[in-house]
Amino acid sequence: MRSDLSASGVFAMLGLGCAVGAELLDAPSAGNFVRRDAARATVLGDYVYVDGGELSQLVDGKISSYRSSNQVNSTLSIDISKSWTTSDLVIRTIPRPSPAKANVALWTDTAAGVFYSWGGKYPFGLNMVKDALWKFTPDGGGGGAWSKEEPTNPTLFTALHPSEQGVSAYTNDTGILIGGLATGWTELYRGHTQTLPGMVTFNMKTKVWQNGTTGFSPFPTLVGASAHYVPSFGPHGLVLVFGGHTPPVVGLPDLPTAPFVDLRNLTLFDPETKERYWQMATGSIPPTPRSFFCVTGCQNPAGGYEIFLFGGQNQRDRFNYDDAYILSLPGFVWTKLPDTPAGRRRGATCVPVGKRQVLTIGGIDGDWRSADPAPQGLQLFDMTAMRWTDAYDANAAAYEQADVIKRWYSSG
Ligand SMILES: *[C@@H]1O[C@H](CO)[C@@H](O)[C@H](O)[C@H]1NC(C)=O
Ligand SMILES: *[C@@H]1O[C@H](CO)[C@@H](O)[C@H](O)[C@H]1NC(C)=O
Ligand SMILES: *[C@@H]1O[C@H](CO)[C@@H](O)[C@H](O)[C@H]1NC(C)=O
Ligand SMILES: *[C@@H]1O[C@H](CO)[C@@H](O)[C@H](O)[C@H]1NC(C)=O
Repeated sequence: MRSDLSASGVFAMLGLGCAVGAELLDAPSAGNFVRRDAARATVLGDYVYVDGGELSQLVDGKISSYRSSNQVNSTLSIDISKSWTTSDLVIRTIPRPSPAKANVALWTDTAAGVFYSWGGKYPFGLNMVKDALWKFTPDGGGGGAWSKEEPTNPTLFTALHPSEQGVSAYTNDTGILIGGLATGWTELYRGHTQTLPGMVTFNMKTKVWQNGTTGFSPFPTLVGASAHYVPSFGPHGLVLVFGGHTPPVVGLPDLPTAPFVDLRNLTLFDPETKERYWQMATGSIPPTPRSFFCVTGCQNPAGGYEIFLFGGQNQRDRFNYDDAYILSLPGFVWTKLPDTPAGRRRGATCVPVGKRQVLTIGGIDGDWRSADPAPQGLQLFDMTAMRWTDAYDANAAAYEQADVIKRWYSSG
């Protein structure tokens, strides 16, 4: 009896046999969080929803030696109706009935208040199935549920190759995915990696899928770029496409040597007519090659629009960026912002939150074991004050352009 007691005492001290706290979580505490990568996010109402990605974390004080990162099974939900800091924020998890993915394309139907998730990779090739389009319907209180969305034209949909690292954007009615790579981890039973040509669209109203190359897609191929829809310019709004690489369709893609898209001569297209335009930008042009960075944007009260660009990878010279920029429209002028205090990274995602802040989520500098200096991998950027902060402000004043951008316009 006595020896049993002392034995269990020893095990308790060593933390052995204790299941509580010894499991992987999709949203670990700020203290156990290490890195998050390849997640995607969108904002609906008072919540940011984060889908997919990979995560490393401490369990009982250390990172697993089996796999340093793990897939994320849940959809995360962040309340932006109240202010918080990145270390005290508690992230809610919502079950995802389909297998875990990373690098998905997220398309938001803002008017209907739902978003769709398609493609991406199955981390480690785990639990792969024939792909479907999944729709998330929020419940208005930060929760919600996933359901499968059947296409109107199933023959075309079934023939599509699910991919990752293509460029996704969405307009008020259409989800867009340009290029991408199909690999053994994006598509069930695929043997080899292939660069996909063309552009896929999904009409969120009619549920019709389309796929086309010449005359339909603004690029023959595209990998690692980012895109953003600006609703207020042109008859149907315009999609701006930034950076990335254009590897040939034939052969294995090699991004370090593939041609890249610079950030001075910018490509835009009309999502309705598919007509393509280019526009030279001025100001502090972000260095390239650049891939796996994030962009998002917000409308300013003067009728213009500012696009925020952050981080990414220089594949050719093999380093990640810690810089950030604003591209202001209609001037097409780039302004360099302060570098992030949390270090270089690729694979972050960013969304506008509240009145005038951008939330950036995750990102990695090559190493799953080096803890992100940003608590929970989250950082905020105030678009008007032009500064990084760890505090989300639900009561911030309305967005207006930063002084330096206002001055550029007033000086003609
Ligand atoms: C995710 O699901 C897999 C089973 O599909 C499981 O092995 C793993 O532990 C889950 N991860 C988390 C963080 O719950
Ligand atoms: C779209 O069509 C092109 C041309 O037929 C094809 O090569 C490509 O794989 C298709 N895209 C997807 C995502 O299946
Ligand atoms: C989306 O916007 C375009 C042009 O701005 C408009 O023609 C179209 O009707 C809109 N679609 C919906 C579903 O609101
Ligand atoms: C910008 O790029 C387009 C191709 O996207 C090209 O046709 C155009 O000549 C370029 N403009 C300049 C000034 O280099």
